[in-house]
Amino acid sequence: MTTSGLSFPDGFVWGTATASYQIEGAHDEDGRSPSIWDTFSRTPGKVLGGDTGDVACDHYHRYPEDVALMRELGLDAYRFSVAWPRIVPGGTGAVNAKGVDFYSRLVDTLLENGIRPVVTLYHWDLPEVLDQRGGWLNRDSAQWYAEYAAATVAALGDRVTNWTTFNEPWCSSILSYAIGAHAPGHRDGAESLVAAHHLMLAHGTAVPVIREHAPDAEVSITLNPTQVWGPDDGDEADADAVRRADNALNGIFFGPVFHGAYPAGFLDDTAYLTDHSFIHDGDLETISAPLDNLGVNNYFPTRVRAARDGEEGNTPIPGGQRVVEVAPRPPLTGIGWEQSPESHRLIIERSARESGLPLYITENGSAWPDTVDADGQVHDADRVAYLQGHLGAVSDAIKNGVDVRGYFAWSLLDNFEWAYGYSQRFGIVHVDYDTQVRTIKDSGREYARIIAEHRG
Ligand code: FCB
Repeated sequence: MTTSGLSFPDGFVWGTATASYQIEGAHDEDGRSPSIWDTFSRTPGKVLGGDTGDVACDHYHRYPEDVALMRELGLDAYRFSVAWPRIVPGGTGAVNAKGVDFYSRLVDTLLENGIRPVVTLYHWDLPEVLDQRGGWLNRDSAQWYAEYAAATVAALGDRVTNWTTFNEPWCSSILSYAIGAHAPGHRDGAESLVAAHHLMLAHGTAVPVIREHAPDAEVSITLNPTQVWGPDDGDEADADAVRRADNALNGIFFGPVFHGAYPAGFLDDTAYLTDHSFIHDGDLETISAPLDNLGVNNYFPTRVRAARDGEEGNTPIPGGQRVVEVAPRPPLTGIGWEQSPESHRLIIERSARESGLPLYITENGSAWPDTVDADGQVHDADRVAYLQGHLGAVSDAIKNGVDVRGYFAWSLLDNFEWAYGYSQRFGIVHVDYDTQVRTIKDSGREYARIIAEHRG
């Protein structure tokens, strides 16, 4: 496919993304305390192959080499996350200077190489000590988080101009507390609603704190909305299944964060789980604090239908009692996710309508079983095609009037893919986990070529 017909505005930001626990390693160095992912990955049966992030890509020690790779690729920006257990190992209280120093050196190295740091404050590695105090189920988590955010922004805000409060709070709530696939691995629908609410409360509480410490910075949140498709049969029950799934996947965050209210029907649909007394007066006002842009992570659409007579729903998403999630349609990626550039465009357009904000695509990419060939290269033609197709969708959304300001490929490096461990490779740079050798894949070279082709 040629990408010359794609159009991106001047100043469009080309980046890649990673997350602390997925790449850093150095799990017990320089005062870092365990996170819920250290605990989870050590719990038998939770992560494929018993893999952990103990070493991961050893980025904590190899960051100069990784920044050099970014420069070689011609990136404008690098989206990474800060590990709370490095900055405030006790969860609350004392700030760990050595932890701050690591990110400070990373930021300086990026800036010296002309690469803009785009920093996420929370990409799922809650200090384990805080989980022992209830984690996101404890309403105090909003204050714990705001304190941690203040310390981090105070230390880096003189150089970092782009701050994101949370990465994919859907995953830290529904996937972690209802579905149980992510840390802390609970399976309780009511808890997932409490966690989602407290994550949003933490977000809204921290926004003014970040602004206070970095008055000129752009503040955002990254959500992972997904296009929900039902059978196109005009059936009322199917339409209701789509509505319920959409609320539990998208509306649960779009509503409170951008409209100051949970979406229509959602509180009724979830009344079988909870009386919602965790929603206090004033919370929705706090949660809907104005933002400067919205980060959108999107990989695949979701397909559902209504349960038929006597059939049970098959998903524990809150309010999804009669919802049946159906198999994705081919073509699938190596991890089994449906490839649909069209759904990517549709969810970008929806995100713009819901938020009324400029967007950054803060993650998008695909996993494939890559190998280093005899010629020493990684010929990942499938990832190249996915990248081209999805950048085409971004370009189409822009042509349709959406203000998309940047794209961050997931991921710079192959890394620890959560419950899948190291079995799934998303990088545009291959990592040999035995030697830590990095090899730019064909997709990395193609990305560099597209960046050069479209640079304003
Ligand atoms: C997203 C996560 C990211 C990565 C990709 C594949 O949900 O934000 O850390 O695991 O999926």
